[in-house]
Amino acid sequence: MYDNPDLARTTVTRDIKIAAHGCQVYYGDTHAIRDVDIDIEDKTVTAFIGPSGCGKSTFLRCLNRMNDTIDICRVEGDIRLDGEDIYDKRVDPVQLRAKVGMVFQKPNPFPKSIYDNVAYGPRIHGLARCKADLDEIVESSLRRAAIWGEVKDRLDAPGTGLSGGQQQRLCIARAVATEPEVLLMDEPCSALDPIATAQVEELIDELRGQYSVVIVTHSMQQAARVSQKTAFFHLGSLVEYGETGHIFTNPTDPRTESYITGRIG
Ligand SMILES: Nc1ncnc2c1ncn2[C@@H]1O[C@H](COP(=O)(O)OP(=O)(O)OP(=O)(O)O)[C@@H](O)[C@H]1O
Ligand SMILES: [Mg+2]
Repeated sequence: MYDNPDLARTTVTRDIKIAAHGCQVYYGDTHAIRDVDIDIEDKTVTAFIGPSGCGKSTFLRCLNRMNDTIDICRVEGDIRLDGEDIYDKRVDPVQLRAKVGMVFQKPNPFPKSIYDNVAYGPRIHGLARCKADLDEIVESSLRRAAIWGEVKDRLDAPGTGLSGGQQQRLCIARAVATEPEVLLMDEPCSALDPIATAQVEELIDELRGQYSVVIVTHSMQQAARVSQKTAFFHLGSLVEYGETGHIFTNPTDPRTESYITGRIG
């Protein structure tokens, strides 16, 4: 049914990159995430699926402390990256977000040139020794995000002047430029046409050779195409988590089945 070679596989064991236990998120009095436990694997694409408002973006933002930027938001529980508590007082959220990069649903390029958007992270984290190094990082990041051909002759033009789909690919280039260990993507293809979507899916597949990728998507086909693991959320709870092939062909929970067959959404 789906073009995903992992469908044929049985359970595969990979290293754990992020382990979350007893995670709760509150917005004021609203309990948005309830007691989520999940082990996210390294070198794996994990899809978060579930109906609108179930908490996918909220939980994703826990993984790089992006919820810290929302005043009324409170996160509880234990979330570890390579065994280290990311909510420990000694952890600098800016350093954490270089390791755990993020691409948002709505493209948000900086009000800077295309070049400087991508060069920003490598510059502040000292990843380039010289201008030639930086040029190389910028070009390879734009190539990986499948936008190099469209922007190579106007790297000095503002990033905000690109089309929505181009801006999104620019943001992906910016995120991969710092070589994150984990890339969080919140509906990264919702502003993209089918060609750019296919290119981004190819990139995601390439990235999992080195990184752990977590992607929120409303497209079952996309989840089935790109991910090896799938987590189904419903009303703030993680209902089911497992091998993508298993979740899509033989879900254990009736709520998962209803969602993937289109009965709830
Ligand atoms: N900044 C916020 N302030 C208050 N409540 C919020 C905030 N962000 C999200 N929520 C609430 O938390 C719950 C989960 O929202 P979230 O955005 O995580 O859902 P989602 O699964 O990503 O939905 P969608 O598929 O529509 O993006 C919702 O009830 C939402 O109203
Ligand atoms: Mg969302």
